[in-house]
Amino acid sequence: MIIEPSDLPGRQAYRLLVDCVVPRPIAWVTTMDEQGRVNLAPFSFFQAVGADPPSIIVSIGRHRDGEFKDTGVNALATGELVVNVVTDELAEAMNTTAGEHAFGVDEMKLAGLTTSPSRVVAPPRVAESPVSLECRVSQRVPIGRDGGENQYLVLVCEVVAFHVRDDIYDDGRIDPRLLHPLGRLGGNAYSHPGEIFEMERPPSSRPH
Ligand SMILES: Cc1cc2nc3c(=O)[nH]c(=O)nc-3n(C[C@H](O)[C@H](O)[C@H](O)COP(=O)(O)O)c2cc1C
Repeated sequence: MIIEPSDLPGRQAYRLLVDCVVPRPIAWVTTMDEQGRVNLAPFSFFQAVGADPPSIIVSIGRHRDGEFKDTGVNALATGELVVNVVTDELAEAMNTTAGEHAFGVDEMKLAGLTTSPSRVVAPPRVAESPVSLECRVSQRVPIGRDGGENQYLVLVCEVVAFHVRDDIYDDGRIDPRLLHPLGRLGGNAYSHPGEIFEMERPPSSRPH
């Protein structure tokens, strides 16, 4: 079967895309508005995209009323956000924070989570998360028709501080067997990491 997105009605292309690109990591993003109110929400349009400076992207959609989601509004206003890693144990709390709440509602409280201060940026991190990345927005890339309901805003962000819980950290690395990161599949499906194995890469034959 071959499907062209222009033949698909409504959100069908989005649904197909998120079934294809799996499993996706989940950025659990803390931001602050200009009055210092904390906001927390999950984003699986999330990836690592650069090394020096270490960089990530998060892609923010719009609410049904056409406004960018609160995370996007806050990150654009302040230029700062914290990406917290979602583990198996935090799945339900993460889901609670995905509810569509009025601007200014503190999803941390709703989910029974605790904040912990960041070092470089103003938004706090989620204390229960074993890994948090303090970030500054470095580029904004609009995706889709300007002002359209399906328009996304990709925020390219520089990581300015890594927080890693001591027990999962060894000699500059994080043990994937101790992290238990939750993966997002299509629809409402999620995945655990399953069996973890290692493979050596083929030797390089490029001249250098
Ligand atoms: C696992 C998961 C991943 C999500 N990924 C995204 C995403 O990548 N982009 C997006 O715009 N919304 C995503 N959402 C929906 C937002 O989390 C949801 O709209 C949330 O209410 C936005 O909150 P905010 O307005 O406080 O920023 C996701 C939801 C879940 C549960």
